[in-house]
Amino acid sequence: MTQRVVISGLADGMGRQTALLLAAKGVSIAGFDVDEAGLKTLADELDTYGVEHHLVPLDITDRAGVRAFRDDVLARFGYVDTVMSNVGIPFFGPFEEVDLERALKAFEINVIGAAALFQAFIPGMRERRQGKLVAVASLVGRIPFPFESIYSSTKFAVEGMVQSLKFEVEPFGIKVALIEPAQVSTGFAKKALKLPEPTSPYYERAMRFIERDNELVEQATTPAVAAAKIAAVVLSDKPALFNQVDRMSTLFFFLNQHLPTRVRDAILLNHMRIRD
Ligand SMILES: NC(=O)c1ccc[n+]([C@@H]2O[C@H](COP(=O)([O-])OP(=O)(O)OC[C@H]3O[C@@H](n4cnc5c(N)ncnc54)[C@H](O)[C@@H]3O)[C@@H](O)[C@H]2O)c1
Repeated sequence: MTQRVVISGLADGMGRQTALLLAAKGVSIAGFDVDEAGLKTLADELDTYGVEHHLVPLDITDRAGVRAFRDDVLARFGYVDTVMSNVGIPFFGPFEEVDLERALKAFEINVIGAAALFQAFIPGMRERRQGKLVAVASLVGRIPFPFESIYSSTKFAVEGMVQSLKFEVEPFGIKVALIEPAQVSTGFAKKALKLPEPTSPYYERAMRFIERDNELVEQATTPAVAAAKIAAVVLSDKPALFNQVDRMSTLFFFLNQHLPTRVRDAILLNHMRIRD
């Protein structure tokens, strides 16, 4: 039976690669993104696999738009097997200097956006007593890194929200999974680059962090490799709750589990080359 999968933020990065991998397996794809040009080229690529697809330009903060998208998808597909909440924006900067209006926007996109998407599709899954919700969170949704206080707190929020709603929807046959990447070589990190001013007391350490981060992104897991792991979770009958896609996250979760926090943190600061 053809699987039907919804992915938010699929014009680029891991969402796009996951959509393509799933399409190669014959999965029908629906999704939305703010990047209209990216959606067009993706639609052309999906056509080459001959799968059914429905891609619309939409901002995840448009709540009525998300519900209308859900109505369209259900009208076309009848039902969906999996909804993957993948939209996320980065946010970098010393906490003391964070513009809180921008921070609120990041919460609106990363957290409330995921909530809106899941809320839209849960009723249909609950009635069918079948379905899967997959949320792309992050390593920093369980282990915070410096200069990512806002981004990290959005991902902690996603982790908490998903682990909480899991208890509520599981009795209706709905499965829930989290994807926790550390670093994948998409264009994501570059979108965060609002650098602190050279006069900032955090400037020197923040720049060292960015330099190290850029170095790590160069060697990071590719979106295609990450997507293969994500696609396996999307198609799994019994997905694990926590899923890593790259070695860095697996390593840090291991350290987190087995070492005292102060040792873990010293390793983390050394790893990012910002231990004074
Ligand atoms: N790349 C990494 O290293 C990394 C690490 C940890 C977690 N993540 C998470 O993985 C997910 C995917 O990241 P990626 O690296 O593929 O990023 P990406 O920037 O390549 O892709 C994100 C997509 O979401 C879209 N998008 C952004 N804001 C939107 C909005 N308001 N409404 C609709 N679409 C919107 C973008 O246009 C883009 O196509 C994100 O949730 C991100 O937080 C990424």
